[in-house]
Amino acid sequence: MAKRWTAPAPGPIETWSFDEIEVPAPGPGEVTIRVRAAGINPADAKHVATARPGASFPLPIGYELSGEITAVGRDALGGSGELAVGDEVVAFRVQGAYTTDITVPARDVFAKPANLPHPEAANLLLAGTTAAEMIQVTRVVEGETVLLHAASGAVGVSLLQQARDLGVRVIGTVGADAEDSAERVRRYGGIPVAYGDGLRDRVEAAADGAPIAAAWDAAGTDEAIDVSLELVSDRDRVVTIVSPDRAKADGFLWIAGARPESTRFRDIARARVLELAASGALEVPVARTYPLAEAVEAVRLVMTGHPGGKVALLP
Ligand SMILES: NC(=O)c1ccc[n+]([C@@H]2O[C@H](COP(=O)([O-])OP(=O)(O)OC[C@H]3O[C@@H](n4cnc5c(N)ncnc54)[C@H](OP(=O)(O)O)[C@@H]3O)[C@@H](O)[C@H]2O)c1
Repeated sequence: MAKRWTAPAPGPIETWSFDEIEVPAPGPGEVTIRVRAAGINPADAKHVATARPGASFPLPIGYELSGEITAVGRDALGGSGELAVGDEVVAFRVQGAYTTDITVPARDVFAKPANLPHPEAANLLLAGTTAAEMIQVTRVVEGETVLLHAASGAVGVSLLQQARDLGVRVIGTVGADAEDSAERVRRYGGIPVAYGDGLRDRVEAAADGAPIAAAWDAAGTDEAIDVSLELVSDRDRVVTIVSPDRAKADGFLWIAGARPESTRFRDIARARVLELAASGALEVPVARTYPLAEAVEAVRLVMTGHPGGKVALLP
């Protein structure tokens, strides 16, 4: 028997249940994966906290994982080509990654970059494809300077590295007392500045006369958005992934994985993000791992907003 975490009904993470389940054999176009690590994202908890259109409960938790193929259905072709039993793979976007075993569409399954251990690989694609879309919608190009809010977070460090690969200079916000956050931003090529009162002045000082061409917001605070709108003249070059209300009210961009145009872009971006990771240009700093049975505690750490890196669940 496999074991899997499910939200029985809309509600907080403490209501989730860890149940024994039968994993179906793979049908045509599907594969079964033995999970070695499941990635944790804030969306895992946010998306089941309240009832949402299109979400029917009970709902299995988790969107991304890394593991090994244990069975291959007829005509199952992976996102990166042929798949065979024993292959090490990542899967994104799936529903129910917090599990020991899962059967999923093969098109969402890709060869795992050999240089990435399972906990890193399991946490690569949701943040990585989000970051890729933020860069794309703001039309950022080589030589520009960009302001990034929540730079030490999962999306933030992926943005820093993808921007570095493009030759883009990034000024990234971190907690005033969070030296580990500042260190992470420096390690991935960004210039850290503390968020909080006086943020605009500190960003301008760090920019050293260069215009701020665009802003990427992964924090969602009024401060982050206000400073972005003050410093970036073109609102089509300011994007948030957290605050749709401010984006609608102030006429700038908001993207989210469930929106059809984002789903299309991110599905295509998976291959490029995997390539960058395989080349060594895109790392996934992991702060901690937990046994799968301790998922609620692990997600609680992520939801503090200061996990210090990615967190993975190990079945
Ligand atoms: N729309 C989408 O498609 C999409 C996709 C992915 C994620 N998201 C959302 O994006 C956000 C970030 O996700 P993540 O996975 O990167 O989270 P994460 O890894 O938990 O990182 C959170 C970051 O937020 C920073 N932070 C906390 N309070 C802040 C404040 N008041 N001002 C500025 N920064 C602050 C923290 O920096 P310090 O520790 O230095 O304070 C930390 O680096 C979440 O809300 C998530 O739900 C949306």
